[in-house]
Amino acid sequence: MLKTLLYCWPLLAVLLLSNSPTQISLETAAPDLLARYGQYIFAREDCKHCHTLYVDKADADLVSLDGLGGKYPLSWFYYYLDDPRSLSPYSNMPSFPHLHVDTLRRQTLEQIFRENNPDELARLNASWSELLRQADTLKAQLESEGAFAKNGTEVLALIAYLRQIPSSPAKIVQDSIDYQQFLLQKKEWQIQWEYEFKDPNSVLRKTAQNKKQAKQGGQLFRSNCRACHGENGGGGVGPNLTDAYWLHGGKTENIAQTIAMGVPEKGMISWQAMLTPTEVGQLVAYIHSIQGTKPKDAKEPQGRLVNDE
Ligand code: HEC
Ligand code: HEC
Repeated sequence: MLKTLLYCWPLLAVLLLSNSPTQISLETAAPDLLARYGQYIFAREDCKHCHTLYVDKADADLVSLDGLGGKYPLSWFYYYLDDPRSLSPYSNMPSFPHLHVDTLRRQTLEQIFRENNPDELARLNASWSELLRQADTLKAQLESEGAFAKNGTEVLALIAYLRQIPSSPAKIVQDSIDYQQFLLQKKEWQIQWEYEFKDPNSVLRKTAQNKKQAKQGGQLFRSNCRACHGENGGGGVGPNLTDAYWLHGGKTENIAQTIAMGVPEKGMISWQAMLTPTEVGQLVAYIHSIQGTKPKDAKEPQGRLVNDE
């Protein structure tokens, strides 16, 4: 459990930082033929042994798939069914690689019709062509997400089924409570970082002003920032950090804010989910320490001339 939590925290942070929780629109509300075939596979593979389709307190041992439709991109299902560990290292969910190889069968569709609504047998030929067309469409959608399924394989039908599992009313209520909590947490997180930038007594600010912390900061710099800002901060893809010219301000507060919040649209990553306030402080201490060092091959100045605080 602890391992799972450790593994999940960067994801949690990303969720906290994004504007809304992951929500992908449901494309089909009514189950199409391919999804019905998928429902058959779901029963055949005994997925219900471990899963329920509802958030149901009575079935606490079962993993709920309530509201699964809309939760993930299609390619997620593709990789997850092949090997859950590839997406979630501590997953206990079994792999179903054979679904990626076994092909859809006309006899199976016939059987589904016979068991559910024999009237449909009259349209078996047309339905079978329609089902294959739906499989092709889904395959093309997967391809656009970079996942390459084999033609007419069973995994396509199972994905068609899983991606339309709706949210039960209980799940909708639970989600809205979770969303309120998420907004609160996100707000707290932002308030905390603001405090770290602005208050001269914050851990970040105190660390940044402590010259002894520059050495630690240098290590962090070489493992995280060198690729874009150069070995000694002279610049590369990113600007020279040793001169007195700054795009986003050269005071402790400004530098810390640029590192933590990033300038994503310009290629500077936001580090607030990856680094602690102490580490950002150490990086700022390092950047202060390399001011005026004029490293070899330093990049030409960018931004405005700023006097350090
Ligand atoms: C032996 C138990 C078991 C069986 C059988 C099983 N699963 Fe799972 N499944 C799990 C567990 C446990 C999880 C919880 C997350 C984890 O450990 O990865 C899970 C998670 C999932 C998820 C992710 C849910 C989410 O909200 O992230 C999907 C989708 C899923 N299973 C689909 C299936 C399908 C489809 C089948 C049948 C082909 C199936 N499972 C059969 C145990 C099982
Ligand atoms: C993927 C490349 C990349 C990485 C990695 C990267 N940066 Fe940047 N950084 C940039 C770019 C590009 C800019 C310029 C943004 C702009 O044009 O507004 C920038 C800007 C900055 C600035 C603002 C400079 C100014 O002139 O105001 C600071 C400070 C900074 N980065 C620090 C860091 C630190 C510290 C790290 C490592 C934790 C880091 N960067 C990692 C690409 C990167």
